[in-house]
Amino acid sequence: MSEVWTDVDAYLASLFPDDAVLLAAVARGRAEGLPDIAVSPMQGRLLSILARSMGARALLEVGTLAGYSAIWLGRALPPDGRMITLEVDAHHAEVARANLDSAGLQNVEVRLGPARDTMRQLVADGAGPFDLIFIDADKVGYPEYLRLSLELTRSGSLIIADNVVRHGGILDADSADASNRAIREFNAMLAAEPRVDATVVQVVGVKGHDGLALAVVR
Ligand code: SAH
Ligand code: DHB
Ligand code: MG
Repeated sequence: MSEVWTDVDAYLASLFPDDAVLLAAVARGRAEGLPDIAVSPMQGRLLSILARSMGARALLEVGTLAGYSAIWLGRALPPDGRMITLEVDAHHAEVARANLDSAGLQNVEVRLGPARDTMRQLVADGAGPFDLIFIDADKVGYPEYLRLSLELTRSGSLIIADNVVRHGGILDADSADASNRAIREFNAMLAAEPRVDATVVQVVGVKGHDGLALAVVR
């Protein structure tokens, strides 16, 4: 089934110049057998625009894959900015490091390990505050990643989370899918969280129907 929004998203993306670095990053991920679940080109642009528009200098990403979204975010940094991206899979991390290297982004560090542990370590180390945190790892971890993100941010920081609509899967309170249930919990937590102002934007496009949560820390 080809929805009109798929064609519109592909058309809009095609208006922009080809980007050899990003195309090579996608190609390397595919050649290395990584799943095709990075953010779309237009979502990557959005992440980069949000980071740049707020003057972000310290970024944290949860879920690296091949480094596609990390390249978009890393490019938004000023020369003395820094970014840490968290990945549990050693092969994914290795592919991402190669892609970030090819992109010339020496200031983006891929940290290997379960994000929950690494985020706890970042809290313990006083590594924050991060100006922007992008959550895009295992969906079951999202509630905990939100709790930890609130310990790693400051007033005015932005917390963004991918895949919070799941093709409408979040409508089913009794879903057999643990990811759907966890995302329902995440969205409810975010909506009730007094420390943030938040919204959820549904996204349609080349990656189907999903959603982005956006929260600014009060
Ligand atoms: N942000 C990427 C896509 C991430 S896909 C992009 O848009 O380009 C989700 C990634 O999270 C996968 O690489 C997966 O290995 C990783 N992941 C899954 N569980 C994790 C965990 N517990 N800790 C850290 N990373 C995890
Ligand atoms: C999946 C994960 C993602 O981050 C995404 O954007 C799409 C799909 C997944 O685990 O299936
Ligand atoms: Mg995602």
